[in-house]
Amino acid sequence: MDIKDSDATLIFTSNLPLVLISAAVALAIYLVTSRRPHYERWEKYGVKHVNVPVHQMPEPRNRFLMKEYGPTVGFFTHVPVLVTRNHDLLKQILVKDFNNFPNRGDDLPSKSPLGKGVFFLKDYDWKRIRQLMSPSFSTGKLKRISTHVQEAANRLTQAFEKCAETGSHLKLFHTTGQYTTSIIAKTAFGVQADSIGEEKDDEFTFFAKNIFKKRSKFSLFFISFLIRFREFRRFLTYTVGMYFPDPCTRTSTDYFNAILKERIAEREKAEIQGSRHVNNDFLQSLVSTMVTSEKKTAAAVISEENAASTANGSAKLEKTITAEEVIAQSVLTILAAYETTSSTLQFCMYKIAQNPDVQEKLFQEIIDVVEHENPTHEELSKLHYMEQVVNETLRLFPPVIRISRKTVEPRSYGDINIPAGAVIEIPIKEIQRDPAHYPDPDVFDPDRFNEESKAKRSPLAFIPFGQGPRLCIGMRLALLELKIALVKVLRKVKVELNDETVPRKGQDIPIEYLGFARPKQPIELAVKLRAD
Ligand code: HEM
Ligand SMILES: *[C@@H]1O[C@H](CO)[C@@H](O)[C@H](O)[C@H]1NC(C)=O
Ligand SMILES: *[C@@H]1O[C@H](CO)[C@@H](O)[C@H](O)[C@H]1NC(C)=O
Repeated sequence: MDIKDSDATLIFTSNLPLVLISAAVALAIYLVTSRRPHYERWEKYGVKHVNVPVHQMPEPRNRFLMKEYGPTVGFFTHVPVLVTRNHDLLKQILVKDFNNFPNRGDDLPSKSPLGKGVFFLKDYDWKRIRQLMSPSFSTGKLKRISTHVQEAANRLTQAFEKCAETGSHLKLFHTTGQYTTSIIAKTAFGVQADSIGEEKDDEFTFFAKNIFKKRSKFSLFFISFLIRFREFRRFLTYTVGMYFPDPCTRTSTDYFNAILKERIAEREKAEIQGSRHVNNDFLQSLVSTMVTSEKKTAAAVISEENAASTANGSAKLEKTITAEEVIAQSVLTILAAYETTSSTLQFCMYKIAQNPDVQEKLFQEIIDVVEHENPTHEELSKLHYMEQVVNETLRLFPPVIRISRKTVEPRSYGDINIPAGAVIEIPIKEIQRDPAHYPDPDVFDPDRFNEESKAKRSPLAFIPFGQGPRLCIGMRLALLELKIALVKVLRKVKVELNDETVPRKGQDIPIEYLGFARPKQPIELAVKLRAD
């Protein structure tokens, strides 16, 4: 099974005339809009204005803007966009004045259910679904989930040990990806996905790793035009039914749709029959709400009046969800949980291998603090240095490099005026590499997160999980997965770089930013057993 760019190739060969016409239309629109003087400039709102080429990707664009023009600049696409790393402004937008910036600036025109996931939802729907999902991530639930995490971490450790014994290199991202998908499959859906340490992924892991297309440079370039012409892209996706502009692969979309429908039907039956012993997982709790809401709809409990008045967020939220929405949240959760967490574990292991002194200090802390085979919650909470290492990894390599918010009503903060409809682009990576707050920002140094240094910074200087009411819902689960993996693995083995690893000892690996932050080449580490 190899679906790298095959979807795109398929479209190009079977739909060539359509593609050519689309390309011509896109080019025409581009020429027309780029000739027209930009409708407005940011100066009239008290913000420095920059003309940005239409096809430029967010990275390196944001790095360039921050470096050349300072903490707050604006440009225009189909809407005014404000990029800022000013902490006061960020605090207003993300936290204090959240109600005026409740939605993201971009949606995902996709045939995958993912596009209707909580990450992309707006206003009332977002509140309703977020509220339904939150209990699944409570402290109590996390404690119950941790048995599954411990088990997966045991298998991860065995994979490291096996490499040490055979002297082979560890394919880092391949393996950390198996670890995080296995956890999300089990805890969220009660599905067993067991390939940690294997050369070949199991089905669930394979499709999770391939939800998004791997695009060639050429198709990315084409897509970056389409992103600017939203309506045209929606038209191609929904009306023409093209798969090319869709960021999601058809194979993964079909796979998850099928297995989730099956699972939901099973759970629904169990729920109606009242057999409560079934899996107490995330999917079950959403299905349970779904069954209740079907009953309620039948009884016409939801009055239209109520639905209308909740649109502005002042009234009570209904506890309802449809089967389609359950699938959407499930696929979104797989995606949100898989790559972010495995990418962090990957970069963390890599930096530890590169910095043996950090590794020794971490090992010492684990030995001093953790007595149990399975670290307890209390022990985990005492691993301060480990938290510093994880946070420094997330500072340098935030898996989500940017987020956005859309402005509802005009706002003025000091000299800066934000018009209604403006998109605020929050460049997480640039915020966390701001030399004004982190001297030598590209250097890995966990001591930046000791009490003393942290006290000197605003909390807005470190936002790998976002901030405010729309903060990442899985933050604590992610940190739990990371800590348990590090305890178990580093207790048994040492990771190293040498002359044959990728990268080699003394070298850095270049990072690519196509959606998520990824190393340009897969990292491969050397592993040594620790003598007991
Ligand atoms: C290291 C791991 C992770 C990182 C760095 C990360 C990062 C983020 C970021 C930056 C956002 C946007 C927040 C905002 O707009 O303020 C987000 C949202 C979200 N994340 Fe995570 N995430 C991680 C792991 C997870 C996991 C394990 C799950 C689920 C099990 C998850 C589920 C979500 C969901 C559902 C949202 C949408 C929240 C909303 O719009 O209300 N994430 N994440
Ligand atoms: C919400 O809607 C209700 C009814 O339409 C209205 O009375 C109220 O003022 C609105 N609240 C806000 C914050 O807009
Ligand atoms: C690390 O980051 C997490 C999440 O932002 C935070 O809760 C924790 O306090 C941080 N720990 C340290 C030592 O900085």
